[in-house]
Amino acid sequence: MQMSTGIGNAGSGPESAAVREPARTTARHSAGVRAVRPARLPGTLTILRTMIRNPIEGWPPEVYEAPLLRSSQVGRPCLFVMAPELVHEALVEKADIFVKDNVMRRTLGPALGEGILTANGAHWRWQRRLAAPVFRHDRVMGMVPAMIRAAEATAERWASQQGQRVDVAHEMMRTTFDVIADTMLSGAPDMDVERVAEAITDSLDSIGWPLALSLLGAPKWMPYPGSRKAAAGRAYLRGCMQAAIDARRAAGATDGADLTSLMLDAADPETGQTMSDEQIIDNLLTFIAAGHETTALALTWSFWLLSQYPKAAARLRAEVEAVAPHGVTPENIDQLVFTRQVLQEAMRLFPPAAVIVRSATEDTTLGAEPVHKGEALIFPIHAIHRHRTLWEQPDAFNPDHFTPEAVKARPRHAFMPFGGGPRICIGMMFAILEGVAILATLARRFAPEPEIPMTPEPQLRITLRPRGGMPMRLKPAGDAGI
Ligand code: HEM
Repeated sequence: MQMSTGIGNAGSGPESAAVREPARTTARHSAGVRAVRPARLPGTLTILRTMIRNPIEGWPPEVYEAPLLRSSQVGRPCLFVMAPELVHEALVEKADIFVKDNVMRRTLGPALGEGILTANGAHWRWQRRLAAPVFRHDRVMGMVPAMIRAAEATAERWASQQGQRVDVAHEMMRTTFDVIADTMLSGAPDMDVERVAEAITDSLDSIGWPLALSLLGAPKWMPYPGSRKAAAGRAYLRGCMQAAIDARRAAGATDGADLTSLMLDAADPETGQTMSDEQIIDNLLTFIAAGHETTALALTWSFWLLSQYPKAAARLRAEVEAVAPHGVTPENIDQLVFTRQVLQEAMRLFPPAAVIVRSATEDTTLGAEPVHKGEALIFPIHAIHRHRTLWEQPDAFNPDHFTPEAVKARPRHAFMPFGGGPRICIGMMFAILEGVAILATLARRFAPEPEIPMTPEPQLRITLRPRGGMPMRLKPAGDAGI
């Protein structure tokens, strides 16, 4: 169990700033016991409404206190898994039994096809093996200058917008999109960043609907509010990716230098089969979708938390001044230890991917609990990160949760923003370096502040977004009254 050691209490911001208190229940954590059941199960209509609006609100409050919770969603039995040792058993030891769930695959399928995030079995393994070299440590370190360049471009823009109101969520999407385009698509020369970001939003905004319809077993073609906009967004994105592939082919630049050229050259070692353009597009969209919005949200929530906790903001700035007085570089980035802790604590309180789902391919057990074939396992990362039995003051912002000693004293899966097991996020190291580079570069010079005191509502749209964006006024860091 973790002790809070300072920042959360010492900061002058309200300790409850990061709080979204779940209702109290009597369920208690004791690993190995059978799953508890929620005190009250909502009706199907309520579940569907919540699914469409914000699925996180539909989780039974017991998920914040119990190790394992048996529940059901629209008649389908499911198990919420919170205890770290059970998360480990499911995601690591029984990864072959608990595979990506069909409901999620169907929800994401129209946008991402059978790419690395959604595929299962041999088809997934091949794609993961193929992409792995791009994420080798030395390759990712080589991408740090692109991350710093994108951060500095945003800093330049912000310098000319001092005192103005910006949507920090949008700003971060733009910054991380620049990074992904630069590193994964070799600059994708003609891509209209604004339009692409809009198309991603269009294709995700109504995603609660296909999720709910899929749970109901409705046919795939069934229209829903926002389905045409989503389809138009997807069509635009696919067209952009096809253009990027064509440009790469025309330039004859299949030199393995980035993900696009790796995929153009790839052949299955067993069958010799190459990837079709459709498959390459699925994967490029997967990397764009999985790889830029998530990091952008971690940064967005970090800026909001820093605005609420000025002492943490000052400590972060002091670190950057000391470690990187002339700017972040690949050589000094690893020394930005507190900056990384802030990012991790932001991802604890607001995990960009707030839930992952698996389903059982056979009858089995989890701990002492029988699990039947077809049953869904839900890993509510947001609840694990604020679990009453795993974290002291679980809702308070305290970057010292991530000192090396604190991390060592905690079970591995008490903190799992990148998932776990063989399907763990392939871009984890990339995301952390990118987040640190951008946060350090910007927070040193700017202290964005909400115009009016506000606690943004986290809304789950596959990723955990602040509802209505994150409008903040740009202030120079020195003006923040510290
Ligand atoms: C803060 C940033 C990020 C967060 C919180 C995050 C989170 C996650 C999580 C939780 C998963 C596992 C999903 C599951 O098990 O169902 C995942 C998978 C994945 N992520 Fe990330 N991610 C981030 C950044 C990135 C970046 C930067 C990239 C690529 C450049 C990326 C690419 C992927 C891919 C391709 C997968 C699928 C891996 C597989 O199934 O083998 N992610 N991510």
